[in-house]
Amino acid sequence: MRISQQSALNSHNMIACLLLIMKRQVGIFHGVVLLAATAVMQPLEAKEVRVYSGRHYNTDREVYKKFSQETGIKVRLIEASGISLVERLKREGSNSKADVIMLVDSARINNAARAGLLAPIQSKQLVEDVPKKFRDPSNRWFGLTRRVRAIIINPSKIQAGSIKSYADLAKPEFKGKLCLRKRKNVYNQSLVADQVVLKGQAKATQWVKGLVSNVEQPYFSGDISLIRAVGQGKCGIGVVNHYYFARMQAGKTGQKDQTISQSVQLIMPNPAHVNISAAGLAKSAKNRSEGIQLIEYLASPKGSQELSGPTYEYPLKGYGTSKQLKAFGQFNPDNVSISQLADTQKMAIQIMAENGWR
Ligand SMILES: [Fe+2]
Repeated sequence: MRISQQSALNSHNMIACLLLIMKRQVGIFHGVVLLAATAVMQPLEAKEVRVYSGRHYNTDREVYKKFSQETGIKVRLIEASGISLVERLKREGSNSKADVIMLVDSARINNAARAGLLAPIQSKQLVEDVPKKFRDPSNRWFGLTRRVRAIIINPSKIQAGSIKSYADLAKPEFKGKLCLRKRKNVYNQSLVADQVVLKGQAKATQWVKGLVSNVEQPYFSGDISLIRAVGQGKCGIGVVNHYYFARMQAGKTGQKDQTISQSVQLIMPNPAHVNISAAGLAKSAKNRSEGIQLIEYLASPKGSQELSGPTYEYPLKGYGTSKQLKAFGQFNPDNVSISQLADTQKMAIQIMAENGWR
């Protein structure tokens, strides 16, 4: 390590300064003093934590910056999409440089846990800050933000008030009106899993059949294109994550989308299926305590608010502060836990595939 007078002064480390002066004045001790100074300087090396993130939101960087300012721990961010991130971790094994893993959706974070990629964390603070149903019973992952799978309608096509719950989507009166995203996306897989947990396999299967028989258009590739189609009147009803619509309303995806969003109305299903974005400590973590500190920061009321605010997600507790989320009103989450969702995912996919959800 190179030792300059500047770094010694910056460190406010009196011993290092003294040693530096001694080094200048007593040439004979040069070697010894340099060694001693190096030993003293060692703990001053910058601490860091490496994050593999499946959350591709630029605004997360601002939150990491705040964490770094508070703790002096530098955050290095490696972003990748949800699936490839888990694959990458599997491939890297114990050589992985990941300390903290962040993923969206119950299925993805639980897949990472099941693949043995996450180390359990014992933290009183995390247990306090993260409601029980939003964390892993084995403490391998912890929810940070919440998202609701919401119903949207075009009021010129669908009478407002005619849909209040996910169950209503299967009513024959909505034949040809309903549009859905493709089966392979995890968001609808989790919604179906949620309904299986709540209603049981047989009733959930009937529900899926009802939904599919109401769809007469090609299945959509994304929530945003589905919202546009509802706004343009190509579809009467859609099912999307609430934040995509809130962002559109706020003009975050452009003025054209903002105008389209004015023809869309969000219906908060009662009760609502709530999913999370979550974080866990990588099994291969080299910076364990820094990683835990970061997860604790992000799950704290302050951190959860900072993460969810700019993305229009909901924090772990409370209902968000933006104009758009306030207009959505409070929601009534159902009682399904994230780990129950994850356990039911496989069955959900099978039900969807067997009943024509493309
Ligand atoms: Fe998303």
